[in-house]
Amino acid sequence: MPIIVKSLPEIKSSEITPRSVYLDRRKFMKHTVATGLLLTADTILPAWAKKSTQSGWPELKKSPYSSSDTVNSFEDITTYNNFYEFGTGKKDPHKNAVDFNPKPWSITVAGECAKAGSYNLEDFIKPDSLEERIYRLRCVEGWSMVIPWVGFSLADMLKKFEPNSKAKYVEFTTLFDKSRMPGQQRRVLHWPYTEGLRIDEAMNELPFMAVGLYGDILPNQNGAPIRLVVPWKYGFKSIKSIVKIRFTEKQPQTTWNKTAPKEYGFYSNVNPIVDHPRWSQKKERVIGQPFWKPKRDTQLYNGYAEQVAHLYQGMDLKKHF
Ligand code: MTE
Repeated sequence: MPIIVKSLPEIKSSEITPRSVYLDRRKFMKHTVATGLLLTADTILPAWAKKSTQSGWPELKKSPYSSSDTVNSFEDITTYNNFYEFGTGKKDPHKNAVDFNPKPWSITVAGECAKAGSYNLEDFIKPDSLEERIYRLRCVEGWSMVIPWVGFSLADMLKKFEPNSKAKYVEFTTLFDKSRMPGQQRRVLHWPYTEGLRIDEAMNELPFMAVGLYGDILPNQNGAPIRLVVPWKYGFKSIKSIVKIRFTEKQPQTTWNKTAPKEYGFYSNVNPIVDHPRWSQKKERVIGQPFWKPKRDTQLYNGYAEQVAHLYQGMDLKKHF
């Protein structure tokens, strides 16, 4: 059975779930059940996690990298999405990904590493390595959210494959299956969706592989069963529903760069002084805030400069946009 979000609760999009509601798992379950929100427990997850979707994940480690910004509501995070494989409208993924069944799921690892092969998703989801990371997400379109992800460090995952000295980049690929991802029947993008990071970016402490959010499994529209989260880069770098990871010597091609090379660069670091050719990046609209609230200033590297600025020392950020 697919992960199904049955009848979403009637919450105004302006209403932000207080942090305390979801941090207290029992209150959270009461809240969601009371408002008619149920996630099925039959997922790609191993037996312990299936049990835990009814009673909560096992104790999630808290991350020192978590943002203290106000977290967006579950409704904002799961009904305002970009996932072109399920349509180009913001509400399309929520509607069209309902029947997507991310089970079973495997990830092919290839290229410059010692441990290439095909791995089951379950090989990566270890209860003691799961943590919660509350990250800001800044979309290149000029809006932002704050999302409480559940997952593990990308660097920890990649090290297991023992990349060699020729591994200068990492490429990620989304599932390509027109029958399961109906948006791929239209040639709006170069399918399959691919993304990439330089190896030192990938090995930084911030990139995160998310398998859940709000203390539960990852909803389909957010990239089930596993997606990347790179919080200092525009949201399109955070590729969803990953089936392949490849270590490469050359910089990999990326979907948005191929689609519009003058608009979307390989790096795509959040930067208020590097405008998109068609709009300014100086400000951002915070999703969930009332319309009369002013936009907020975009922060360099989306506020994560302390962790990542050193990666780009000496680089012209306007050239390497
Ligand atoms: N990954 C895939 N495979 N397909 C997509 O269309 N959209 C990207 C990114 N990852 C996208 C994707 C964009 S533009 C953004 S802003 C984020 O996902 C949105 O993530 P969210 O819907 O979970 O907020």
